[in-house]
Amino acid sequence: MTRIRSIVRGVGAYLPQKVLTNAELAKTVDTSDEWIQQRVGIKERHIAAEGEYTSDLAVAAAKNALANAGLTPDDIDLIIVATTTPDYTFPAAATLVQMKLGIHHGMAFDIQAVCSGFVYAVATADSYIKNGLGTRALVIGAETFSRLLDWTDRTTCVLFGDGAGAMILEKVDLADGEPERGVLASALRSDGHHWDKLYVDGGPSTTGTTGHVHMQGPEVFRHAVGKITDVVYSTLEKTGYTVGDLDWFVPHQANRRIIDGAGAKLGLPPEKVVVTVDIHANTSAASVPLALSVATADGRIKQGDLVMLEAMGGGFTWGASLIRW
Ligand code: UT7
Repeated sequence: MTRIRSIVRGVGAYLPQKVLTNAELAKTVDTSDEWIQQRVGIKERHIAAEGEYTSDLAVAAAKNALANAGLTPDDIDLIIVATTTPDYTFPAAATLVQMKLGIHHGMAFDIQAVCSGFVYAVATADSYIKNGLGTRALVIGAETFSRLLDWTDRTTCVLFGDGAGAMILEKVDLADGEPERGVLASALRSDGHHWDKLYVDGGPSTTGTTGHVHMQGPEVFRHAVGKITDVVYSTLEKTGYTVGDLDWFVPHQANRRIIDGAGAKLGLPPEKVVVTVDIHANTSAASVPLALSVATADGRIKQGDLVMLEAMGGGFTWGASLIRW
C-alpha cells in the first residue's frame, strides 16, 4: 500500500531590518512599554522599509528555506503564499515570488485566511501533494501588516509587525515499515458570522481603498482559547495521538496571554510551547513559520519530533496541523 506523505524539507525566515520598540511607539501614541508587555507580551516588532513589499519578504524567506533544504528554485512546482497584505490587489503575491525566484513551471497562488493563513496553506499544500498536483511545495506566510495599521489607533497599532517565514514540503512515498513522517493531519474551520470583530475597512469592491485594521480585541480574545483548543483536539483525534505525545506546540503569536491560556487548557508544560510574540509581535500569516524558524534554528525542533501548529484570526478562521518532523 502506498503511503504518500508531505515531509518537511526545510524552513527559513526573513525579518525586515528596522526594529520598532514599545518605547519608540510610546513617543507617538498614548501607550506604554509596561501596558504592552503586561497585556500582550510584545517588546518589539520589525517594520518593512519603504519600497520593501510582501513578495520581497517572502522571497528572502523562501531563499533561506531553499538553502536550509539544499534545494534550488527549479525543484519547486507549487508556491502558496498566505498573506493578507499582497503587493497588489492582483496578481497573487505567489506569482511575484515565482517570478523573482526565476521559476517558470508549476503553479503559484495566494491564500487569504488572515492569521490562520499559514496553517490553511500547509493543509492545502499537503492535499495538493497527496492528490498528485505537486511534488515540492514552497509554503510561505508573509505580511507587511504595518501598511494596514492606523498609527494613531493605540488599540491596534501596538500589536502587529512585518515578516515572512517559509517551509518546503516534499512528496515522499513511505516504504513498507517506514515510520510515519510529514503532515499527519490538519483541521480547518471558519465562521464568517464573526467577520466584523476583526477586519479591514476597505477593499477593491467596497471603498476602492486599502483601509485600516479594526478589532474588537476583547471579543476576539474571548473566542480565541476555546477555538484553538477545539481544533487542536480535532486534529489529534484524526491520528490517535494525545496532547501528551506532543513534543512542541507552535501557536499563532497574537498575545502571550492567549498562548499561555491555550497551553494551560491543553495541559501542555510551558517548556513545550514556542513563543516569539515578544520579538516579532503579531505578524498574521507569518507568525507560525517565523516561530518555527526560530525553534528549528536553535535546535529545539528536531527530526522525529511531533509538532502541533495552530492559528486563529480574522473571519473568524482557525486551524491546526500535526507534523512528524
Ligand atoms: O491575530 C488575530 C487574533 N487576534 C487576537 O487574538 C487579539 C485578541 N485580543 C487581544 O489580544 C486583547 O484583547 C488586546 C491586546 C487587543 C487588548 O487587551 P485587553 O486586555 O482585552 O484590553 P482592552 O481592550 O479591554 O482595554 C483595556 C484598557 C482600555 O482602557 P479603559 O477603557 O479600561 O480605561 C483601553 O483603552 O486598555 C486601554 N488600552 C491601552 N492602553 C495603553 C487599549 N490599548 C492600549 C494601549 N496602551 N496600546
